[in-house]
Amino acid sequence: MRLKVEIFIQQIVGFLFLVGLLPVHAFVHQHRFVIKEAPYSKLCSSKNILTVNGQFPGPVLYANTGDTLVVNVQNDGSQNITIHWHGVKQPRYPWSDGPEFITQCPIRPGTNFSQKIKLSDEEGTLWWHAHSDWSRATVHGALVIRPANKTNYPFPKPAAEVPIILGEWWKSDVQEILNELLASGGDANKSDAFLINGQPGDLYPCSKNDTFKLTVEKGKTYMLRMVNAVMNNIMFFSVANHQLTVVGTDGAYVKPFKTNYIAISPGETIDVLLEANQNPNHYYMAARAYNSANGVEFDRTTTTAIIQYRGNYTPSTPVLPNLPNFDDTNASFNFTRTFKSLADKKHPVNVPLNVTTNLLFTFSVNTLPCENESCGGPNGDRFAASANNISFVLPRIDILGAYYKNINGVYRDEFPSFPPFNFNFTGDSLPVELQRPDRRTEVHVLEYGTNVEIVLQGTSLLGGVDHPIHLHGYSFYVVGSGFGNFDKDKDPLKYNLVDPPHQNTIAIVRNGWAAIRFKADNPGVWFMHCHLERHVSWGMEMAFIVKDGKGSHQKLLPPPPDMPKC
Ligand code: C2O
Ligand code: CU
Repeated sequence: MRLKVEIFIQQIVGFLFLVGLLPVHAFVHQHRFVIKEAPYSKLCSSKNILTVNGQFPGPVLYANTGDTLVVNVQNDGSQNITIHWHGVKQPRYPWSDGPEFITQCPIRPGTNFSQKIKLSDEEGTLWWHAHSDWSRATVHGALVIRPANKTNYPFPKPAAEVPIILGEWWKSDVQEILNELLASGGDANKSDAFLINGQPGDLYPCSKNDTFKLTVEKGKTYMLRMVNAVMNNIMFFSVANHQLTVVGTDGAYVKPFKTNYIAISPGETIDVLLEANQNPNHYYMAARAYNSANGVEFDRTTTTAIIQYRGNYTPSTPVLPNLPNFDDTNASFNFTRTFKSLADKKHPVNVPLNVTTNLLFTFSVNTLPCENESCGGPNGDRFAASANNISFVLPRIDILGAYYKNINGVYRDEFPSFPPFNFNFTGDSLPVELQRPDRRTEVHVLEYGTNVEIVLQGTSLLGGVDHPIHLHGYSFYVVGSGFGNFDKDKDPLKYNLVDPPHQNTIAIVRNGWAAIRFKADNPGVWFMHCHLERHVSWGMEMAFIVKDGKGSHQKLLPPPPDMPKC
C-alpha cells in the first residue's frame, strides 16, 4: 500500500516537473538535532562534551542542490546555543542563519527552535556548527549537497564520497579554555590533539584502535569531502604516495588541479578526488597545523587516518606523507591562490564588473590596557582584535531583530568604509598607539543591489598572522590577493575577472590582502568574521545590513513564530 502511494506521488511529482510547476527535485528534509552532553574519551582521558544527538562529529546531512532542510534544534544541554549552516546563503531568510546576537537570541536550555535551511546554488560540501561561545569545537558536522536530479558531477562519479572532518581536541572542557582566555587576557591554551573524523590517530596515546580507516579498491576513485572544523589553525593535509585532485571548495566547483597537499582554513571546505592507483597496502593521510605567527605557542601534533586497499596481502607499516613545514606561508598561499571557477555554460561566473561600493577593511590583532598590567598578553596588556580598528562588542539583543523591529540602542550603523588611520599596514615597526582599537557594536549598511568590492587587508600589528575571513549570506568572488599593502592603482590590473573562485571563506595571507566582490542582493543582517576562534573572541568581526530592494522578491521574509526570545 505504502509503495503504491509512493509510486503515485512520484508520478504526480514527475508530471508536475514535466509541466514545469516544480523546480527540479526541490525536496524538504526533516531532521531533529538534540543538543546534549555525552562522555567521550581520547588521549587516555575522558570528559563530557556537548554533542548533537550524542554524536561526535555530529550527523552528516545530505541534500540535493536547491532543496530545503528543516532542522528542529532541541537544547537538552545546560548552556545557551545556536546553530549555523556555514556557506548556505539563506536567500531573504537570515532568521535561520544562527550567529548568536547577530541574527537570533540563543536557544536556551529546555527550549527548541526549528530552523529552515534554504539551499540555492550551493553544490558540493558545506557544514554546520554551533555559533555561540566555543561550543563549535564539538558541535559540528558535514552538509553534503549533491547535484540535483539528472544533473551530474562535472567529473566522473566517484566510487564513494567520504566526509573528512578535521577537528581540534583539548583534554579539558573547551568552555574553560574560553573562560581562561577571557579572564587572563592572554592567548588560548594550545590544544592536545587534532582529529580526523573525531579520531586523533596512531601517533597519539590510547588512540590506535580507533583510528579512522577508509577502505578503497585499486583502480577506483574516491571523493574526500574535507571540512576544517579546527578552532584555531589553518591545516596542511596530505596522503602518502597519492596525489589529490581538487574539484571544489565552499560548495562550488573549481577547475580541477592536482596537488601533493592541501591547505585548508577553519570554515573552509574542499572537495578532492583520490585515485586508488598504488600497490595494495596501508597509507597514512595526515594533517597538522600551519602557523605563521612568530613566538606563538601552537599544537605541533599530527593527526592521521589510514587508507587501506582491499585484497589479500600483508600490509607494511604505513608511511607518513610529506607535509609542508609549520611556517611555510608560501605553501599555504600558493595553494589557495590556485583556485579558479569552472566558468562553463552550466556553471557561469557572475562576478560584478562595475563596482559601485568600494570598501577596505583592515584586520588586526591588538592589545587593550589591563589594570596593573596584569594580563597575559604582551607587556601585561589584554589581547584584542579588530576590523577597521573596531573591536566588535556583541549586543545583548540580536541585531537582526533590532533592525526588523526598529529597536534603538542595540547597534550603531557607522562601521567605516575605510580604516580610520592610514598607515603602512604591513610595515616593520609600527607605533604602539596603533594597537589600541575602539570597542563598539557597529554595522555597515549596504543598499540592495550594490556591487561591492572589499579589500581585506591584514596588518603587521603584533607581527601579523593569516586571517581566514568568512562572510555569511553570500559567496564572494576572490578576484585578487597578494603580500604587503594593497595598491589601488596596480593591483586591480591583475585581477581575475574571468574565472575567479566563488568562496565563503578566504584566508588573507600574513601581512597581505585579498580582494572580494559580490552583489548585495540578499537582504538581511550578515555576519563577517575571522574564523580563528580566538580572534572572534577578541573582536575580529562586524556585520552588514543589506537593505530591502523595491521588488516584491527583494525583501526580507518575516521571522518564524518560534524565534528564540532574549
Ligand atoms: Cu563557520 Cu560565522 O561561521
Ligand atoms: Cu584572524
